[in-house]
Amino acid sequence: EKGGWSSFMAKEITENPDAVANTVRGRVVDGLVNVPELSELGDDVLRGINRIILIACGTASYAGMVGSYAIEAWARIPVEVQLSHEFRYRDPVITPETLVVSISQSGETMDTLMAVKFAREAGARTLSICNTQGSTIPRESDAVVYTHAGPEVAVASTKAFVAQITALYLVGLHLGRVRSTLADAELRRLARELQELPAKVTEVLKTGPAVAQLAKWMSDSQAVLFLGRNVGYPIALEGALKLKELAYIHAEGFAAGELKHGPIALIDHGQPVFVVVPSPRGSALIHSKVVSNIQEIRARGARVIVIAELGDASVLPYADEVITIPLADPMFEPILAVIPLQIFAMELADAKGLDVDQPRNLAKSVTVE
Ligand code: BG6
Repeated sequence: EKGGWSSFMAKEITENPDAVANTVRGRVVDGLVNVPELSELGDDVLRGINRIILIACGTASYAGMVGSYAIEAWARIPVEVQLSHEFRYRDPVITPETLVVSISQSGETMDTLMAVKFAREAGARTLSICNTQGSTIPRESDAVVYTHAGPEVAVASTKAFVAQITALYLVGLHLGRVRSTLADAELRRLARELQELPAKVTEVLKTGPAVAQLAKWMSDSQAVLFLGRNVGYPIALEGALKLKELAYIHAEGFAAGELKHGPIALIDHGQPVFVVVPSPRGSALIHSKVVSNIQEIRARGARVIVIAELGDASVLPYADEVITIPLADPMFEPILAVIPLQIFAMELADAKGLDVDQPRNLAKSVTVE
């Protein structure tokens, strides 16, 4: 039930910290990530995988994109993300050393289910990341890592998305351990940081009132753009999708590096642009490139709202609004940066008097192809 909340979505956003905590729980043993469900595939199999394809639709595909950066960096396996309906019909190259990982909150999305069956028949190993116990996709897969976000009622995904990213971090760290691609100290540091994330998510939720105010001011926007780079790129895509789904505003997410290859033509006076700024502690170079992007769009009149880590003063001279997130390992930033964007979309839809739990034309799970 909604309890005292104005909507299921409002309630589910506040459950983000639990979604992370409950997904991690029991999967860090003696300081190291250990996901028993993955061991079921066999450590030899996990060591032999030479390609991972993440398949999903909608929000889950953006969780997959975040996961692709983490798994590739930590486990040194080539990882790509494909939309289930594109994967299924493109005649993909699949071998027994291919691991196809499906990501689905409901476990019933027909496009993803058909893609999983197809992958299995083509000889791939299949792993499901799913939030719904006993649903169809896990039953059709070789192994399943459940996310523990709890039931998600609002059509637009929030806490399940954050739990999906968390599960993909766990997969990446488990593989990094089994394949010895990460040093023991690094495995332990990342596992510890993962356990510290829920408290940081709770901290970000405090941006709620300020973000709600911003959404009110922006409720007559015709279009909103989102920029991100590296693991911030999928978050830009997710921020845009949330706004489309909930507030029916034209919104687009771009990789910040693409700006000069086209999207900068869209920048006009007063155009709102959210920028997810990568941590300077990750790559100082990437950080400085994104700061340059901010200067470029500001010079053309954009209204810039930045999401940056606490203490990043470099963005202040060029930002109209700053939303700060706590410090975390740069790979974990998506989980923090997405929260204000979830709140923004919900509040803007609310300010327009729209039904945030049941947006028009959408269904929680699409069980037709
Ligand atoms: C869409 C929903 O139709 O399906 C999205 O509206 C969701 O919110 C997508 O991300 C995928 O759903 P699932 O259950 O497979 O994660």
